[in-house]
Amino acid sequence: MSTQYYTASSLDGFIATPENSLDWLFQFTDVDESHYQNFLAEVGAIAMGSTTYEWILEHLLSPESKMHQPWPYQVPTWVFTTRELPPVEGADIRFVRGDVTPVHRDMAAVAGSKNIWIVGGGELVGQFHDAGFLDEVIVSIASVTLGSGAPLLPREIVTPPLKLLSAETFGHSFAVLHYQVQR
Ligand SMILES: NC(=O)c1ccc[n+]([C@@H]2O[C@H](COP(=O)([O-])OP(=O)(O)OC[C@H]3O[C@@H](n4cnc5c(N)ncnc54)[C@H](OP(=O)(O)O)[C@@H]3O)[C@@H](O)[C@H]2O)c1
Repeated sequence: MSTQYYTASSLDGFIATPENSLDWLFQFTDVDESHYQNFLAEVGAIAMGSTTYEWILEHLLSPESKMHQPWPYQVPTWVFTTRELPPVEGADIRFVRGDVTPVHRDMAAVAGSKNIWIVGGGELVGQFHDAGFLDEVIVSIASVTLGSGAPLLPREIVTPPLKLLSAETFGHSFAVLHYQVQR
């Protein structure tokens, strides 16, 4: 079981614009989904922050959205928030707040031999890293720069540096970098 941060980023290290737009990412319509599908097949528990959850509510679950679809995950999802947020009917969503340690313990119990996916944002991933739980970072770098926005991982990880396990290219727009956190 591994705790993984799997995300897409701009070349300059942002996972969303300051307005929480992902239009820069969804402009790439001919992306090979197999890398993501293979990753997702090994995920047994998911965590995300409330901005990411609200993005899904607005852009995927809303009937008015062009990308309208059902809740995209089959495994239990922990949403970090200090607020009361609406649940999604039929989805296993658990609202939590504060220290990530007891949440990670509960996620690990549910995930079993499968992996834990921290979807983001970067500050929440940083909280898991601070607590010593982050094992891997898998980031698809898109061939765009945003200038500002939601940071990929706002922490100093310098010594020891991350260990690069692989670097793959997908078409002319994406490089997928797979890192292992060293302790
Ligand atoms: N490019 C990609 O593949 C990708 C992947 C993931 C996300 N995204 C996007 O990136 C942006 C990330 O937004 P974000 O940086 O604001 O991060 P976020 O993690 O989605 O949301 C941050 C919010 O989560 C809540 N939170 C975080 N840690 C908490 C804790 N320990 N206890 C209680 N609440 C906690 C807080 O809000 P409240 O307490 O006020 O609720 C906090 O303001 C979103 O637009 C998302 O859609 C992109």
